[in-house]
Amino acid sequence: MELITEINPTLLNELSAIVGSSHILQSREDREIYGQDETEDLQFMPAVVVKPATAGEVSSILRLANREKIAVTPRGAGTGLSGGALPVFGGIVLSTERLNRILEIDERNLQATVEPGVINQVFRDAVEARGLFYPPDPASRGSCFLGGNLAENAGGPKAVKYGTTKDYVLNCEVVLPTGEIIWTGANVLKNSTGYNLTQLIIGSEGTLGIITKIVFRLIPLPTQNLLMLVPFFSPEKACEAVSAVFRAGFTPSAMEFMERDAIDFVLKFVDVKIPVKEEHMAHLLIEVDGHDLEVLFKDCERISEIMYSHECDEVMFADTAQQKSDLWRMRRAVGEAVKSHSVYKEEDTVVPRAELPVLLRGVKEIGRKYGFKSVCYGHAGDGNLHVNIIRDNMSEEDWNHKVPMGIREIFHLCVQLKGTISGEHGIGYVQKTYMDIPFNTSQLAIQKGIKTLFDPNGILNPGKMFV
Ligand code: LAC
Ligand code: ZN
Repeated sequence: MELITEINPTLLNELSAIVGSSHILQSREDREIYGQDETEDLQFMPAVVVKPATAGEVSSILRLANREKIAVTPRGAGTGLSGGALPVFGGIVLSTERLNRILEIDERNLQATVEPGVINQVFRDAVEARGLFYPPDPASRGSCFLGGNLAENAGGPKAVKYGTTKDYVLNCEVVLPTGEIIWTGANVLKNSTGYNLTQLIIGSEGTLGIITKIVFRLIPLPTQNLLMLVPFFSPEKACEAVSAVFRAGFTPSAMEFMERDAIDFVLKFVDVKIPVKEEHMAHLLIEVDGHDLEVLFKDCERISEIMYSHECDEVMFADTAQQKSDLWRMRRAVGEAVKSHSVYKEEDTVVPRAELPVLLRGVKEIGRKYGFKSVCYGHAGDGNLHVNIIRDNMSEEDWNHKVPMGIREIFHLCVQLKGTISGEHGIGYVQKTYMDIPFNTSQLAIQKGIKTLFDPNGILNPGKMFV
């Protein structure tokens, strides 16, 4: 179906009547800003940026777009890494930035209701002030929106103990591409009532509807944590140590892996000092949390023993709050640090945790075969390895042809190991050509059928997830 990508003056007037002309952006500079996210160096131009403030306004915009067959790309904070917010068909970018209120923190039920444009960190601070905890903490938590977190089913370091975004959403209000406003579920911890529309919307990357309210469940805030940094001489040994910790009966609140290059890049990028020796080839960053420091110290002792049995160098503990925050700042900046060095492609591989050493070895072998360098880091406790493929001086030909062949091979390896091609970044624009690897034609047909049911005219976030 042909979509309208340009907006004529009559349509512009209609949009202005819905949101007010001051909430419409048309200048080239503004459209450029809203035409990119954090994915590689990609840029597309929307015809117009529209900023509604209510679900009713979102509904009116979608009704108009559906009637006129205008492409609409929903956008949160634009921190995505798979191009979900890129307006690849031009048309309207619908920004949720004015839907930014925390509507209620219900301490009786340990729940909160928010709009999608609330920044993750703003929300976590607000609930923390009441002794409550919202665990999902993507690296971009200081700027990413909760609506985008739902759309991509964002994860982050804490997912290993506490789960991802999907595990905290009870219910959401969604505006369908045809303009109807629905709630997907109920504000309850148990629900066996009909299909699970809430979980269908989560991770749907803005292709099925626009989320306008979210009801989260919260948990009590853990009051204590300990953080340790463990250097290894072999990256594969570090990966092997990861699953040994869980097998021994521990669930750390974070279990992050960084190979040597990731550390080197990031230490040039942030002013954090850690003693890295020439022969340290990887680090694990391990956090445990709870309420009783003595229990946590004991856990760390046991975890350290497991580390030493996997041939690590001396385990370092963060002694102060400052050291903890420095180590986390360093870990969260790895992606940005690599990006500042060179154009790159970021893959978000995920396998069952104990297969991580096989995946890491495979990624490096495939890199050698196709002639690319990769920097690997990520959420080892989840078997979720970010593979940043660096362009450096690679030729146009090799970058555009050889690298995608190598990526295909990496993704085949993930699936062979019973994993899949994205753990937390989504498929969006940049991974859609690989969807034939985790899914066969029947599996894809079901997914495309769902899309058509929600969005018969294909106006919402076109060009994403499927080719
Ligand atoms: C991280 C982002 C890239 O883990 O997912 O740093
Ligand atoms: Zn990550």
